[in-house]
Amino acid sequence: MGYLLGIDVGTSGTKTLLCDDSGKILASATEEYPCMHPRPLWSEQRPEDWWKAAAKSVRRVLAAAEVSGTQVQGIGLSGQMHGAVLLDAAGKVLRPAILWNDQRTGEECAEITRKVGAERLIRLVSNPALTGFTAPKIIWVRKHEPRVYEKTRKILLPKDYIRYRMSGEFATEVSDASGTLLLDVAHRRWSKEVLSALQIQRDLLPECYESEEVSARVSASAAKELGVPAGTPIVGGGGDQAAGAVGNGIVRPGVISATLGTSGVVFAYSEKVQTDPKGRVHTFCHAVRGKWHVMGVMLSAGGSFQWYRNALGQIECAEAERRKCDPYELLTQEAALAPAGSEGLYFLPYLTGERTPHADPYAKGAWIGLTPRHRKEHLVRALMEGVTYGMRDSLEIIRGMKIPVRQIRISGGGARSAFWRQMQADVYGQPVSTINASEGPAFGVALLAGVGTGAFKNVAQACDSTIRLTSTTRPKAAAKKLYDRDYPMFGKLYRALKEDFREISGLG
Ligand code: XUL
Repeated sequence: MGYLLGIDVGTSGTKTLLCDDSGKILASATEEYPCMHPRPLWSEQRPEDWWKAAAKSVRRVLAAAEVSGTQVQGIGLSGQMHGAVLLDAAGKVLRPAILWNDQRTGEECAEITRKVGAERLIRLVSNPALTGFTAPKIIWVRKHEPRVYEKTRKILLPKDYIRYRMSGEFATEVSDASGTLLLDVAHRRWSKEVLSALQIQRDLLPECYESEEVSARVSASAAKELGVPAGTPIVGGGGDQAAGAVGNGIVRPGVISATLGTSGVVFAYSEKVQTDPKGRVHTFCHAVRGKWHVMGVMLSAGGSFQWYRNALGQIECAEAERRKCDPYELLTQEAALAPAGSEGLYFLPYLTGERTPHADPYAKGAWIGLTPRHRKEHLVRALMEGVTYGMRDSLEIIRGMKIPVRQIRISGGGARSAFWRQMQADVYGQPVSTINASEGPAFGVALLAGVGTGAFKNVAQACDSTIRLTSTTRPKAAAKKLYDRDYPMFGKLYRALKEDFREISGLG
């Protein structure tokens, strides 16, 4: 029997999973690392930390499952998207990686839009310039750190840096490359036009593969660190969203996912390239050959809840420690004490700015509508409702693009609690389902490794043979009606405050 490894280079840690060639998961391990915020709006990590975490977690899963590295038939890589890793001629990292949630590039986005043209950009790369994407980061480094830029010979995405350390190869694949703003998403190749308009040399970028294709092989030196033999195939893999979607079985029309992790993502499969003329959702290549996807990304979904736990949930954290349970469980129980609609209290979940639908790095978080009637339970419930309304914003855009939404599969922290599952069904106005696989991107790329090395015929067959629904929660009529009534106010409050948020940014 052969075994498959899936490695997901996340923002809080790297998670590695080992499954057999039928997709049965045998072990998983996560190694954490810090995220640095040296200035307001900045977010950086050390690529060396990712590599140490990846190598250690590979060794840990092999040991835990008592599987010899010689039995590993393929490796899949996934990771946080959009990050920029700059390497010199010797392959050395030149500066900390600038991450997906870094918001420093407002000016560079305006410059790109000016140089290429807003409509032309959507025509060439299917997306507008957004602060999270990679191209504006490259331009920021060129402008602010010219000496670093002069020495730069290769620019890699986070998971592709791990591929480089594993194999010595510079390679990426279409789903992650889509988030650079430099890929011609429709034709699945680097965009000569955009590269030339931005004066970025093509040879700074790696070769671009399909997600299931073998793109590299483990080198002799990395073999020692990883505990798998030299020559083990590494498939293209996928950006964490596309890989997570494979892990959730989002590989057919009508099946979409809503994932509440740090970010909140609504992800729809598409047979063709479909763009929102306003560029509010991203149109990227899927990790399925010849297919695409459309997705809306909230920056602080579970992140808002995590902020609440850390900033205002000390009592619940202490109580959870005493009872040996999860503080989120207690916070959710508290939220359930307040009625749906939180008695007129709203929460705007824009703690780190927002992508979908506002593309606004200056947006802020807020509770609006406080009265003496409101207690702590209203604050938590309103926060969860605000995050869920934010997810509905993406869903409404996708519905508006006439992409069929027949089944919503939910995952991440928001799928673990029955209370939040019900709230999602009520706010989305459609049943939501959970599935048996909860390992997300690492599982998705392990399946891709299976496809690339012959364990499965194709991605759809890999998903069909491993993924099934485990629960379905239907909307309750009264709550659905109430949320349909309250939802428009959520958007109205942001629009009313938009300019003031920008001004507040200058005061901080
Ligand atoms: C997707 C995105 C995030 C990161 C973080 O566009 O920015 O989901 O990939 O994991």
